[in-house]
Amino acid sequence: MQNLGFIGMGNMGKALATGFIKSGKIKAENVFAYAPNQEKLKENAKGLGFIPLSSLQELTEKADTIIMACKPQQIDGVLQKLVNAYDRQGNGAAVTPDTPSLLDGKALISIAAGWDLAAYQEKLSDQVRIQFVMPNTPAMVGSGVMLFEDRNTLQPKEREQIRDLFSPLGMIAEIPSHLMGIGGAVTGCGPAFVDLMIEAYADAAVKYGVPRGLAYPLVSQTIFGAAKLQLATGMHPAALKDQVTSPGGTTIRGVAALEEYGFRSACIASIDAIMDFKKS
Ligand SMILES: NC(=O)c1ccc[n+]([C@@H]2O[C@H](COP(=O)([O-])OP(=O)(O)OC[C@H]3O[C@@H](n4cnc5c(N)ncnc54)[C@H](OP(=O)(O)O)[C@@H]3O)[C@@H](O)[C@H]2O)c1
Repeated sequence: MQNLGFIGMGNMGKALATGFIKSGKIKAENVFAYAPNQEKLKENAKGLGFIPLSSLQELTEKADTIIMACKPQQIDGVLQKLVNAYDRQGNGAAVTPDTPSLLDGKALISIAAGWDLAAYQEKLSDQVRIQFVMPNTPAMVGSGVMLFEDRNTLQPKEREQIRDLFSPLGMIAEIPSHLMGIGGAVTGCGPAFVDLMIEAYADAAVKYGVPRGLAYPLVSQTIFGAAKLQLATGMHPAALKDQVTSPGGTTIRGVAALEEYGFRSACIASIDAIMDFKKS
């Protein structure tokens, strides 16, 4: 990988570009991006230092590795443009594995929900080397989870380079294709559920007199610390819970109240709701 090109530079594109550049894994002058709103793109480029481009054609001329970072529903349109631009007659050939596109010969790293290797293989030729990665928003602060679909068509050395590029953004987990959906539900939607928990416990702290400005960091650091302890020790969460629930003590009363109000079932139901929606 020499030059990286982003198709789309929104929230997640910026998070990735920031992590890649700030960690020194790639120089800003080797990072290019295209997005339709050129004013916004140029503004973001000023802050991060990447090079804004005005067309997909220019982007594919500059970059050997492309990150597909637009919305899932925008990808069909992007692929059609990449086929049209290859076919300079502009005949608008259908996007199929038999149709060449400007992605041929490139490595394509896609972060768009639902666009896994199988989805791209229905559209693109085998000249495009493909890897599906699902990051989450804590990647913005180097504490993300990056799910790497285990099936991919990158060259082995190239895949190592891509893993290395993503490594400053957090933990990398290899996931079989059929678990990318549930994995993405837990890690991609999970931050919103934890945010709800932070808000709820902060409300409880405020109820008993803690100033709001103090309540959020107290709760967030508690969640962060408990998660870090579990990761560092590898201990079962129930064993960690048992360590702080002394017989007849206060914590066990709180645990019992959470069970009474269906905390565990509510967590599982939140994931059921996502998976049911994905099926529909
Ligand atoms: N946010 C997350 O937590 C998260 C987590 C995992 C994966 N993802 C995936 O990351 C992708 C981007 O999400 P996001 O939250 O960053 O979205 P976003 O903030 O809305 O950014 C989308 C970007 O795509 C650009 N775009 C729109 N139409 C385009 C086109 N025709 N050609 C090229 N670029 C186009 C937009 O440019 P303009 O602003 O100029 O229109 C914008 O820069 C999605 O596929 C999502 O599934 C997101």
